[in-house]
Amino acid sequence: MATVRINNNDYQADVPPDTPLLWVLRDVLGLTGTKFGCGIAECGACTVHVDGQAVRACSLPLGDVGTKSVTTIEGLENDPLARVIQDAWADIDVVQCGYCQPGQIMSAIALLKNTPHPTDAQIDAAMSGNICRCGTYPRIRQAIRNAAGDIA
Ligand code: FES
Ligand code: FES
Repeated sequence: MATVRINNNDYQADVPPDTPLLWVLRDVLGLTGTKFGCGIAECGACTVHVDGQAVRACSLPLGDVGTKSVTTIEGLENDPLARVIQDAWADIDVVQCGYCQPGQIMSAIALLKNTPHPTDAQIDAAMSGNICRCGTYPRIRQAIRNAAGDIA
């Protein structure tokens, strides 16, 4: 039985330590805001924060999480930066099907927490691991620029 800290709560998970964090989130704990895409750290759909850094949950064994703090999209309800980003997304209608968007937003938040005023190159570098089959990349980039302006 492993204890894992997610969204400021401690959860018990009775799974082998090599179980990927994504499976624990979705199948054990019912936190389905984090999406399964590729399962091999190639698409970014499963992006969560571990101690504030954007991480692919599909490729992180639970045993490697240890005492680190995990944040999922569900844990951002009262996060001021998440609100700014959510508003920036809504203002220009970033979303199409929406499947990739929790991962996109988790990566964008991690970027702006560490780099509040990123250059376009920094945005592209931070977001390059998040695939969008609907091709919303230009609007994602613009929404991040707008959110950075709002933070200013
Ligand atoms: S499902 Fe984790 S990167 Fe694609
Ligand atoms: S909005 Fe459809 S995959 Fe990104």
